[in-house]
Amino acid sequence: MPGNDIFILGIESSCDDTSAAVIRNNEQLSNIIASQDVHKQYGGVVPELASRSHQQNIIPVIQSALDKANIKKNQIHAVSFTRGPGLLGSLLVGTSFAKAMSFGLSIPLIEVDHLEAHVLAHFLQEPDSPSEVPSFPFLCLTVSGGHTQITLIRDHFDMEIIGRTIDDAAGEAFDKAAKILGLPYPGGPYIDRHASAGNPMAFRFPKPRISGLDFSFSGLKTSFLYFIRDLLKKNPAFIEQNLADLCASIQHNIVGILMDKLILAAEKTKIRTIAIAGGVSANSSLRKAVMDQQQDRGWKVFIPKFEYTTDNAAMIAITGYFKYLKNDYAGYTLAPYSRSFRP
Ligand code: KG4
Ligand code: ZN
Repeated sequence: MPGNDIFILGIESSCDDTSAAVIRNNEQLSNIIASQDVHKQYGGVVPELASRSHQQNIIPVIQSALDKANIKKNQIHAVSFTRGPGLLGSLLVGTSFAKAMSFGLSIPLIEVDHLEAHVLAHFLQEPDSPSEVPSFPFLCLTVSGGHTQITLIRDHFDMEIIGRTIDDAAGEAFDKAAKILGLPYPGGPYIDRHASAGNPMAFRFPKPRISGLDFSFSGLKTSFLYFIRDLLKKNPAFIEQNLADLCASIQHNIVGILMDKLILAAEKTKIRTIAIAGGVSANSSLRKAVMDQQQDRGWKVFIPKFEYTTDNAAMIAITGYFKYLKNDYAGYTLAPYSRSFRP
């Protein structure tokens, strides 16, 4: 029913991607992402540079999202934005812009939690091609550069974190291993690419002994560092000669750690509808390992489109849409939060 369509603008600026999206109900009309290459030369995200780039990018990115969706500002029903967690200076850019736009257009302002949005990205639809969405309850393994957690989702906004990392995130483990191997930042996609030509059993690394559903990745980084350092002493060309096998082996180990806990979570909760989300959910080995469980354990698996794995505003817009339906609006005095909890 075109007259009843709801248009939501989503804004994401929590880390180093400036993104804006427009959705019509649950359908994505545009999802523009400006990635910041400036951080590559520093081997990690530099917060001050990220804030500055967001400030430069935000209006052009929002304009592109409106243009691509072919709608005007005054057709938007609400503006939703990432309130946290993330880098405070980066979040302030999106938050201030969203407040100003909501105030200027006299439309509701909707605050969104970045991690809830990664999960709810599974409810996004493409225009004219409906796809199946997870049914409740389901489990979601959210794996990114800053977070690694298993969430039990009972409803759109009834989420319980049942396992999380006690130190590094899975994406950090990929990025740190890549750095040790001399690969560019962020290293996850490079490891994935080189691993496709390697033997995942070539080298073995220890798995952490953490009870329950929590994860740990810091020990792996240390053992990988010492392993490489010792072998480089014997053979300075060790990395070049074994790059594919090293990437395949470290990837195998990280994916194994993730899968062990995800399988345990499915067994404990007796839930077999399983989703993955976040930047690391783009990893080909993780995608395959989860898909394999459809056969092995009868899971119903939901894997996001590549566009929705890394940070994007479409996931902020869909979360905003569900909140809009509940009239769950934000006030103008709120401030962003940098850690994984609302203040
Ligand atoms: O969700 P995201 O874009 O940003 C955060 O919220 O952190 O995730 C970025 C992380 C980086 O650590 C990056 O190396 C990792 O996702 N990543 C991958 C792959 N693509 C992105 N890790 C492994 N394999 C990939 N194909
Ligand atoms: Zn993210």
